[in-house]
Amino acid sequence: MGKIWIPGMMPIELLLILATTFFVFVGVGWLLKTQNRSIPKFGQAILIWLTAFVILKFVLYPPIPSALMKTYMGLITLVLFLLVSADEESWTDFKRPILKTLAGETPGYRGVRTITLVALPLLAGMGTYNNIVPKFEEPIELRTVHPAPPAAVKVHDLKGGDKTFTLQTAQNPFRVDEDGQYSRDVQQKHVNDNPFDPNASKYMQYVREGGAIFFQNCHFCHGDNLDGRGMFAFAFNPIPANFSDPGTIAQLQETFVFWRVSKGGPGLPREGFPWASAMPPWEQHLTTDEMWKAILFEYWHTGFYPRTWD
Ligand code: HEC
Repeated sequence: MGKIWIPGMMPIELLLILATTFFVFVGVGWLLKTQNRSIPKFGQAILIWLTAFVILKFVLYPPIPSALMKTYMGLITLVLFLLVSADEESWTDFKRPILKTLAGETPGYRGVRTITLVALPLLAGMGTYNNIVPKFEEPIELRTVHPAPPAAVKVHDLKGGDKTFTLQTAQNPFRVDEDGQYSRDVQQKHVNDNPFDPNASKYMQYVREGGAIFFQNCHFCHGDNLDGRGMFAFAFNPIPANFSDPGTIAQLQETFVFWRVSKGGPGLPREGFPWASAMPPWEQHLTTDEMWKAILFEYWHTGFYPRTWD
């Protein structure tokens, strides 16, 4: 069904639509009157009912819930009945086509009667069937949670930058000892250190900076305990990764994690689909250093070590 929605319609626009419809109705009625003709009461009622339905269902935006829709249409039906039965004359006028159809004596009405008597039970049957037919959950989607990464990841290419990290050889530039040398076991040495100590080691200072980045950007989803239970977590499917579970970053090389952080859900290859990951592509918001530091923090905080290639 085509939509004639006006996104974010304001109350005033709604009033305009209602007023226009009203004047069109009055205008058409007046035009017909000048020609000494009029739409029969039954036709009028149907026309008003359908117009109200179309406006409520297809013009109003945001769409109204179906329970409310039923209430509104019920009220409109009631008002229409009051309207057509206001005086004896219009009530007779309204009933005429119905009685004629039921009697089925006039030739034209006989066909209408047959169609109505067949269509009504069919429609009722279809409605009932639709209501009671069992509904099945969508099948569980099979997906690769940790798809094969690319050989290299080029970050900030959208911003015209050109930093390329080869995943096999790249290292977290902040996993370093006091001499600034990459050190595999620096984390082990500092597992119990206090990142807020003013005399903390270089490595612990980077961890602390990474923590700040994490709490500014990641904890809304990944949780302040890094357990994937952030305040927005359950709005998403799949839910954010739980870093404190050995199934996530503990299984991964640090460069794989860097690739995931920089490219997010949109950067997943086809085997990662079909699924809609809410993980943002952080290269659009953070520098490469900030991403590496956040990752450093995640490993330090959970106590897991990144996997190595050998
Ligand atoms: C809007 C919510 C959201 C925010 C904010 C967010 N993430 Fe995620 N993240 C997710 C979701 C959802 C997943 C799981 C789906 C996926 O792997 O893409 C995920 C997955 C990940 C993974 C992959 C883990 C794995 O096992 O493959 C890493 C790493 C990650 N996030 C790091 C981060 C970091 C670092 C930040 C902050 C800079 C961050 N995330 C911010 C939603 C978010």
